Amino acid sequence: MELKEGGKLSEDWWDIPMLKGNSREWIGYPTQKPIALLERIIKMASSVDDIILDPFVGGGTTIAAAEKLNRNWLGIDQSVQAVKVTELRLQAASDLLSNSYTVQLHKYDYDTLRYKDAFEFETWIVGQFGGIGNVKQRGDFGLDGRTQDNTPIQVKRSDSIGRNVVDNFLSAVQRYDKNLFERNKNGKKPVGYIIAFSFGRGAIEEVSRLNTEEDTIIKLVRVEEIIPIAVKPALGVQVNELSKNEKGERQIEFIAVGESPVGIEFYSWDFNYDETKRFKPQILLDKNGKQEYNFKAGSHIIAVKVVDNDGLENIEVIKLKINGVVERTNLFC
Ligand SMILES: C[S@@+](CC[C@H](N)C(=O)[O-])C[C@H]1O[C@@H](n2cnc3c(N)ncnc32)[C@H](O)[C@@H]1O
Repeated sequence: MELKEGGKLSEDWWDIPMLKGNSREWIGYPTQKPIALLERIIKMASSVDDIILDPFVGGGTTIAAAEKLNRNWLGIDQSVQAVKVTELRLQAASDLLSNSYTVQLHKYDYDTLRYKDAFEFETWIVGQFGGIGNVKQRGDFGLDGRTQDNTPIQVKRSDSIGRNVVDNFLSAVQRYDKNLFERNKNGKKPVGYIIAFSFGRGAIEEVSRLNTEEDTIIKLVRVEEIIPIAVKPALGVQVNELSKNEKGERQIEFIAVGESPVGIEFYSWDFNYDETKRFKPQILLDKNGKQEYNFKAGSHIIAVKVVDNDGLENIEVIKLKINGVVERTNLFC
């Protein structure tokens, strides 16, 4: 191209410096790219509300940039570490106006599922079962969803479901769609599915009686038959006082020790944890579980998360009171 007077050809490179280990945005992911680079690409190639897909998410830079620029996004990675680091990175940058997102892993831990918001859990597990969740929270005789061929599904986010649940479900299924009920019954197909963490003897015996005496099949499905459930990692944290400086600040050493049958992936630290908000780590990716931090006199809440190779996590929250001495209390979340 020929230059007009006073003009300058644009360069064939972008002036975005490489990330250094001491940079503020450095999260410790080895292949991490600068967010300015991804922001520039996303702005150039998409508009607000478009969908950005990164199938090799790594440290989550594309997703963080997409979120910042109000794009929808999908992130995929084969590595549990990459998925969890991306999740924690979004969490650290989140505020009240942030969009919600879901994270899909290969395994789930019992406590997280069991104590999740009930409606959210019902819709999610129906989806995992291959069905369609009932988006209305009420009505439809208390049914929580249906299979692709419209057979009703009921979800109970509890253990040892009793016979009364089977009785109520059977009458709801009959009222929901009498013709469908008769069709399924005559075709020797299930008239409905109940999903729960476990079923008591009363429920199991009643389902078996209905099958043999009334030719009515109700399927009892345990959550662990739909998704793999594992035990979350155990976590202990040791707190040691290292030194005190002339301003009365204490240098404290934290040693986190996680245990999991599948091995520990990494630890994350929030030295300014606010129980009313979410975990917002300043140290996202710590492979060794060892940190040193300086604290002024006063009360401090520190939270540490451990993530195992299945992507399951546990958290420990520690309250430190620093005055003449260092006092530690464990808080339970
Ligand atoms: C170079 S890194 C991505 C770096 C990312 N842009 C960042 O800013 O951190 C490549 C990622 O691709 C993932 N990966 C490699 N092969 C994959 C595959 N077949 N399916 C899904 N993820 C894969 C790796 O686990 C790694 O996290």
